[in-house]
Amino acid sequence: MAIRKIAREGDEVLRKTCRPVDEVTDRIRLILDDMVETMRNADGVGLAAPQVGILRQMFVAEPVPDEVYYFINPEITSQEGTQECEEGCLSVPGLLGKVERPMKITIKGLDRNGEPQEYEFEGFHANVMCHEYDHLSGVLFVDKATETFTPEERPEEE
Ligand code: NI
Repeated sequence: MAIRKIAREGDEVLRKTCRPVDEVTDRIRLILDDMVETMRNADGVGLAAPQVGILRQMFVAEPVPDEVYYFINPEITSQEGTQECEEGCLSVPGLLGKVERPMKITIKGLDRNGEPQEYEFEGFHANVMCHEYDHLSGVLFVDKATETFTPEERPEEE
């Protein structure tokens, strides 16, 4: 496995629409494994393929330690409720933002072996998946944020 370079906001690669993965090959699995290593190395909870310069519909996520999800050609098939999330992004270092996300989603796609999978996620898990899913159509959290701030400027909790 290898750590890959993470694209930063301003890099056009983050603004493109990703194409579906045609076939889940060893090469795809290698990229996914590199993405997990890159995400962990950067203390992230998710990483989408365009963030490492690959314009394919896939992302990895680890919303809680040692619970890794691989999504290839994902599709959010239902969503319910809303939650206000505080988000950051490995491609937008040093900035946080408040983003409204669904409270609950159903997401389907292929797993690391190319097998179909479907999950229902709530709360933080749903937040992470929605954030990564957005990357696949060139959307960053700052596009949706109602406010952005640095960790030092973080508003007081009410
Ligand atoms: Ni991100």
